[in-house]
Amino acid sequence: MRKVYLVGGGPGDPELITVRGMKLLQQADVIIYDRLVSRRLLAYAKPGAELIYVGKEAGRHRYTQEEINRLLVEKAGSGVVVRLKGGDPFVFGRGGEEVMALRRHGIEVEVVPGVSSAIAVPALAGIPVTHRGVASSVTLVTGYTAERRIDYASLSGDTVVVLMGVRSLKKIAEEMMHTRSPETPVAVIEKGSMQSQRVVTGTLADIAEKAERAKLSPPAVTVIGEVVRLRREFL
Ligand SMILES: C[S@@+](CC[C@H](N)C(=O)[O-])C[C@H]1O[C@@H](n2cnc3c(N)ncnc32)[C@H](O)[C@@H]1O
Repeated sequence: MRKVYLVGGGPGDPELITVRGMKLLQQADVIIYDRLVSRRLLAYAKPGAELIYVGKEAGRHRYTQEEINRLLVEKAGSGVVVRLKGGDPFVFGRGGEEVMALRRHGIEVEVVPGVSSAIAVPALAGIPVTHRGVASSVTLVTGYTAERRIDYASLSGDTVVVLMGVRSLKKIAEEMMHTRSPETPVAVIEKGSMQSQRVVTGTLADIAEKAERAKLSPPAVTVIGEVVRLRREFL
């Protein structure tokens, strides 16, 4: 039977993969992995496992999504095949497209959810995305708008978490100030869960300038909302 395991690798720290994910990683004959997967996780692969990097470098795609889909179909059936993705496969991870491509070829897929950076990276920086009396709803949104237009001004959610947004922070903050106070607290967390993690805090009015001054770069998660103030108490 041809089968592929679509495994979420967590936000970076190798200890944050699930037990099921780790077991599959250790059994895998083939591991097809992305750029945001911790290289330290790959150290758990068994000797002789085939490790295939399909990460997309900024500005230059090593593999298109279609090529990744084809590769998954081709490798399915070569023993235990793990498709290892950063965070959770279904949170801006294009995991759904991979499931559909595999199913179209009659290949079974088991999804192993992962700890998503959308929730875990703020948590590790001392920010709960919800908190009784402060925030009872969260919106996850992408800052990558090359393929679609997002109306940031009309996003609902007491807390807004932006992935892939560090490069478009200025535009997002400007748009959000049409409907939210310029004093709304914001935190940008770069390389969350890693030793090199950095956090820059500010408000919608000044966060873009602060992030630029700090030269923040991807991967980074931006949290917008009153929950950011709790950081002072939680750290
Ligand atoms: C293509 S999306 C994949 C998200 C992933 N599926 C997840 O659930 O975390 C990549 C974005 O996730 C965020 N991200 C992933 N890992 C991160 C980390 N360790 N620190 C900060 N942001 C991270 C960044 O916004 C990055 O640009």
